Amino acid sequence: MKKKQFSRQDFQNAADFIARNTRHRPKIGLVLGSGFGEFAEAIEDADIIPYAEIPHFPRSTVEGHKGRLVIGRMEGQTIMIMQGRVHFYEGFSMEEVTFPVRVMQAFGVETLILTNAAGGLNPEFRAGDIMMIEDQINLLGLVGNNPLMGPNDPALGPRFPDMSTLYDRRMRELAANVAAETGLTLRRGVYVGLSGPAFETPAEVRMLRALGADATGMSTTNESLVARHGGMRVLGFSGITNEAIAAIDTPRVTSHEEVLETGKVLVPRMISLLRGILGRWHEVV
Ligand code: HPA
Repeated sequence: MKKKQFSRQDFQNAADFIARNTRHRPKIGLVLGSGFGEFAEAIEDADIIPYAEIPHFPRSTVEGHKGRLVIGRMEGQTIMIMQGRVHFYEGFSMEEVTFPVRVMQAFGVETLILTNAAGGLNPEFRAGDIMMIEDQINLLGLVGNNPLMGPNDPALGPRFPDMSTLYDRRMRELAANVAAETGLTLRRGVYVGLSGPAFETPAEVRMLRALGADATGMSTTNESLVARHGGMRVLGFSGITNEAIAAIDTPRVTSHEEVLETGKVLVPRMISLLRGILGRWHEVV
């Protein structure tokens, strides 16, 4: 497979372009997954940059993903928000999928918060729950599609990065404290990243459960790996938009409409959690 190889200079060019188009210099990055784009509307002093204008930046093709950077302030912190992401299933290479993370790294972002819509595998999870990602299974990577494959630039990160704690312990503690304080039930578990775009068959759902996964989705694991490789702290949340179907002939189906519909219920919960985290950010710097 022939694919485009980005260089450190490409990341830097995109980061410099962003720097020229915003007054802010955030050290916090946030990726808003399917349905959560609304969070970015609440940001103050926003500078907005469409992905289409940023050199090499991939543009999302999926409904529910807006495709712009929103940079501004919230709860006293400056933050760079990706309102929408691109996915491997859209036909982008792993390098393209994770290009924005490298650009954030070049820009000086030190902590990346990832959000996604996910199917609940854990039978105790309900649509509308939020799961904090404690660990991940990058099923795509395990079968040969790891975003860190290819030549390694040691200036970006090590050839063989440790992933024994991918999701930052202190950030997770902060999130748990904020959730407890605001009365939000925060589920915790393992996120498994698949390619999609088809939702899982019941046999696959049972397999994923047996592997130890609690939620399943089509994003996040690639971005988190690249961010951690680049030395960032990573935090992740899955909005459980549907309960994965574990038995054939169940009289209901999974649809993108359902995912977006439940996403609406999840938005205020996700917003209050993220706001609470930003409000107590001083505890983790
Ligand atoms: N499976 C995979 N990805 C998803 C799901 C699901 O059930 N729901 C939302 N994203």
